Amino acid sequence: MRKLAAGNWKMNGLTAQLPEVTALIAAHPAPACEVLLCPPATLVAAMAATAAGRIAIGGQDCHPKASGAHTGDIAAAMLKDAGATYVILGHSERRADHGETDALVRAKAEAAWAAGLTAIICVGETEAERDAGKTLTVIGTQLAGSVPDGATSANTVIAYEPVWAIGTGRTPTLPEIAEVHADLRARLTARFGADAGGFRLLYGGSVKPSNATEIFALPNVDGALVGGASLKASDFGAIVAALSAA
Ligand code: PGA
Repeated sequence: MRKLAAGNWKMNGLTAQLPEVTALIAAHPAPACEVLLCPPATLVAAMAATAAGRIAIGGQDCHPKASGAHTGDIAAAMLKDAGATYVILGHSERRADHGETDALVRAKAEAAWAAGLTAIICVGETEAERDAGKTLTVIGTQLAGSVPDGATSANTVIAYEPVWAIGTGRTPTLPEIAEVHADLRARLTARFGADAGGFRLLYGGSVKPSNATEIFALPNVDGALVGGASLKASDFGAIVAALSAA
């Protein structure tokens, strides 16, 4: 399994920020892990051209349909056509801001595969759910509902992102992260058998250079989905280096 350092630029980035990609590649020309950046849709083609295959590029969402009258939406094939090979699906900000359900995320994942993209499917509990002791139940329900039956270790990556840890500087304790990742692996094994061991399980939520090494040392953590710290080549590069060394 090749571990994955994935950056999610969210609604940040203009062409003026493309030199960050050049700087990242220059600083880490041959990382031991796979490196992925998911810029806003407007930058996918330009970033793919800048990356020139040295790092992977992904989208942050796609529509479940292949084409049609859906103003403002983006089809998976359009992302692929622009140079993407991945797409993030079911991020908690999409679930919260756009009311995305597990069923919709599942349909989007099938659309992503049909276009030849690898789906990064996100799950994670709110703070109230964690406080109520419901974390594993919530994540299990999201995983069962959001991941289609056709998932394989080649076409799907799972990202565990506690909602309350995103952009807050707060993270679960290391045992708490390990507990969720072990549970995810067990659920994937129950559903997909031996292939479950090959699925990459990313942790996301306030990953930064100062905590990356300890998180990447945990069992069943096969990389990270990084928001704020992916915007600067220096910070994201330090996370890439930490994962390469893990
Ligand atoms: P963060 O975001 O690293 O800024 O907390 C992570 C994410 O939402 O993917």
